[in-house]
Amino acid sequence: MQQAEKLVEVDCITHVYPDMTKVQICGLDFVVNRGERVSILGSNGCGKTTLLKHLMGILIPRDGSVRVFGVDPGKEYSNIRQKIGVVMQDVDEQILGPTVYDDILFAPLNYGMNRAEAGRLAESVIERLNLGSIKDKIVNYLSGGEKKKVALAGALVTEPELLILDEPFTGLDPVFRREFIGVLNELNKERGITFIMTLHEVDLVPEVADVLYLMHGRGDLGERGTPEEIFGKFENLAQFNLEEPTLTRLFKGLKKEGLDFGDPLRVDEAIGAIKKHWNTTSQSPNRDIIDREMGKWGDGEKFK
Ligand SMILES: Nc1ncnc2c1ncn2[C@@H]1O[C@H](COP(=O)(O)OP(=O)(O)O)[C@@H](O)[C@H]1O
Ligand SMILES: [Mg+2]
Repeated sequence: MQQAEKLVEVDCITHVYPDMTKVQICGLDFVVNRGERVSILGSNGCGKTTLLKHLMGILIPRDGSVRVFGVDPGKEYSNIRQKIGVVMQDVDEQILGPTVYDDILFAPLNYGMNRAEAGRLAESVIERLNLGSIKDKIVNYLSGGEKKKVALAGALVTEPELLILDEPFTGLDPVFRREFIGVLNELNKERGITFIMTLHEVDLVPEVADVLYLMHGRGDLGERGTPEEIFGKFENLAQFNLEEPTLTRLFKGLKKEGLDFGDPLRVDEAIGAIKKHWNTTSQSPNRDIIDREMGKWGDGEKFK
């Protein structure tokens, strides 16, 4: 089997902020392979943003090593920046404006593309994210959710290989959130784009992640696994200051009542599991009635 290509490798880094707050991101190595959709879950203040800022070369560790596309981003970010798209937790840190269109055009122009090529890429991402109606607006006047859309457009416009997203769903309405997830998953499927995101919304993890890291304390990378492994393994996610996804709670509860539908994590899987159970079980309360009624229809009883 071909060896997975590691795009990101973080080996036990220590960061010390100017006020001497120390964040030690240690425990497991943080590894991201090409094509993976990676999520990091952890409570407020555990060091998720600190980790991502090291990948972007914004912060430099005191100890430990960070490799992104094989280089140290603290020293050589300019050599890899074109392959990376970023949405910061605080989007005001990255929005340049003045208009939405100017903002989206900024990165491709800055990377040396001519106006025509940059314009073509900008138009394409505006269409993909449905931003046509706000493209001439002044960015400062946009709502928080709209700014996040613009930041995402700015991250995607250069067609990066790796997307780094810090709490991208915060402040988004449910419709755009769904579109946003759709776009990310499409890009992953069609172009093999890799993404790393932090998030709080446990229910969304199964929709956006192949691999999940749990972080707790201050920087302790405690667990790595598929969402199924992680949510299946822990009886008590509260030790990580996390809740179980709603579907996990529901299906664990049903299992305790003697109804075993497996452990579906996504709504489509849950529907499939319930349907299968329904079709195969003889315990369905309506089964006899359905069989009798179907039988009647079958031999012309209904006309009597
Ligand atoms: N600029 C800063 N100066 C001092 N402490 C900071 C700074 N940024 C973050 N921290 C501290 O570092 C820890 C990790 O923060 P952060 O990485 O933002 O956590 P998360 O993103 O998981 O909520 C927290 O204790 C936070 O207070
Ligand atoms: Mg954060």
